[in-house]
Amino acid sequence: MEHGPRAAAARVLRADADGLAAAVAALDAGELIGLPTETVYGLAGDAFAPATVAAIFAAKARPADNPLIVHLAAAEQLSRVTQHVTPLARALAAAHWPGPLTLVVSAADSVPTITRAGLSSVAVRVPDHPVATAVLTRCRSPLAAPSANRSGRPSPTTAMDVVTEFGSELALVLDGGPCVIGVESTVVDARGSRPIVLREGGVTREQLGVAADEAGGELERSPGTRYRHYAPRCRIEIAPTGQLDVEVARAVTTGVHLGVLVHRDRAEQLPTTATVIDTFTDAPDLARRLYTGFREAERAGVELLLVEAVAEEGVGRAVMDRLRRAAGVA
Ligand code: TXA
Ligand code: MG
Repeated sequence: MEHGPRAAAARVLRADADGLAAAVAALDAGELIGLPTETVYGLAGDAFAPATVAAIFAAKARPADNPLIVHLAAAEQLSRVTQHVTPLARALAAAHWPGPLTLVVSAADSVPTITRAGLSSVAVRVPDHPVATAVLTRCRSPLAAPSANRSGRPSPTTAMDVVTEFGSELALVLDGGPCVIGVESTVVDARGSRPIVLREGGVTREQLGVAADEAGGELERSPGTRYRHYAPRCRIEIAPTGQLDVEVARAVTTGVHLGVLVHRDRAEQLPTTATVIDTFTDAPDLARRLYTGFREAERAGVELLLVEAVAEEGVGRAVMDRLRRAAGVA
């Protein structure tokens, strides 16, 4: 955590009755808050208030051509953002909401242009987190909520991460504990008859019934996936499965301050010159620890963070996608 006047001034509130009331009042007044979801923390504001959405873009230094996700309390509210719910969108919403799935649907005119970055579509999801649900149920409008990090930085998975990113720039941050999934939602274009995965995430291709090699060409990706992303201030490298020892030895000879994020079974055997930033047991566990690992590596002052690869299946696909982008090899 960062210390100093900015961080000290940020209001982190427990999500009790008072905290929720303060959050809803701030949002209805057009202010921005840090909001927990099951994936990552969001930087939330009224999705229907153009000035508020402009403030979100400004706070994140987010390119204006990268649209935001609109968050709803329940699938029944879909009519607030779209007039054309395809059978596919209906089926995916029924199967995965609330949950880490974002659907791209055609936008109703009521969704401000700035929120959808000028596109005729809008991304929408119903998060699966009691605090997010409580806030969304009570506040006036659906909430635009990109991940609560400055553009290009790792997404926050704790309330303190949000404070580290934004200090006192936000009205408040609601503390909902650490995020249980740890990587962002899966973004799926649901306007056609087959789901098109635009961003890998918390809902797996296996769950969606989409083959690993199906679709996903550069043109079909989400605008946001064009940018380098998720990167901490240190270099990230991926150690392919089975090559951890070789990669560690190679890094150690260069004399860099080396940090590692490795499977628990491998941590003991590493040279003591490598700082173990964290360990994991499987891909879902790495998903939960990935961004906190990035941030811990920054705090520890490591120059190079070596992360052990996981298999490209289940949530492992999203983990590897984020790792490649952070490493600058995507
Ligand atoms: O898990 C999540 O989705 C988190 C939590 C806070 O809900 N939010 C999040 O938002 O990751 P953000 O803004 O960091 O990422 C939104 C992604 C971007 O890649 C963006 O380009 C894409 O969704 N997106 C938004 N609207 C879109 C649209 N109309 N068509 C295609 N992609 C869209
Ligand atoms: Mg983001």
